[in-house]
This record gives sequence, C-alpha cells and structure tokens, in this order.
Amino acid sequence: MSWKRVCSASEVAEKSLKQFDVEGVPVLIANLGDEFRAYPPLCPHMEERLEESGICEAGVLTCSKHLWQWDMRTGEMRGEAEKPLLLYEVKQDNGDVLVNIEKELEYEYDEETDDDDDSFWD
Ligand code: FES
Repeated sequence: MSWKRVCSASEVAEKSLKQFDVEGVPVLIANLGDEFRAYPPLCPHMEERLEESGICEAGVLTCSKHLWQWDMRTGEMRGEAEKPLLLYEVKQDNGDVLVNIEKELEYEYDEETDDDDDSFWD
C-alpha cells in the first residue's frame, strides 16, 4: 500500500475531471462535490482520454465518444458500457487528495479485428 499526494482538492473543480501524473502513473481525479474518485485516465472502450471525452453529470460519467456510462462512485456500468471503470482508493488529508497506488491500473483492450474480417474473403 502506498498513499501518494495527487493534488490539492481545490485544483479539481466540482463535477469535473482532471488528469495528473503521480510518479509516472497517470491518474484521473473526479470531484463529485462531496467526494473525490480516482480512475485510470483512458476510457475502457477505446483508449480515449476521459479528461477530454468525459462528461460528469448527476454522479454519472459519460464518455462522449460512444456514450459508455458509469456510476462515478462505484465504477459500475450504466447504459451502453460493456466494461466497468477501475478505481484507485482515495482519501483527503489537510485539503490534499491522496490516492493509494499499489500498481498502475490498466484496461485490457481487444485487438483490432479488421485483418480478420479481410481474411474471411480470402
Ligand atoms: S471511447 Fe469511450 S465510449 Fe468509446
């Protein structure tokens, strides 16, 4: 277990997302108003940067690329999403946001299947 300071709480506006680098590990911090959450920074669908494609509304995060959605507190899937969000443990201390990083969390992405589609006609 390794708690790392990511930022001060005031650096992330309410209902928004901001990406930070924590000793080489990219972390996306979300400010839900009463709490913070921390996720890997890329959409689990197609590696979009959620800092740019993500929309926070009513506790739901929506990736504007293909509208996958998640419960921001739990990471559970909503609507079109096919993979849950991964979360780092977060706590606040003296106005700072700290994240427990044991190892970098990353999604597994499917291989491109275009080549397979072409070979169907060979
Ligand atoms: S890249 Fe985020 S929903 Fe497709």
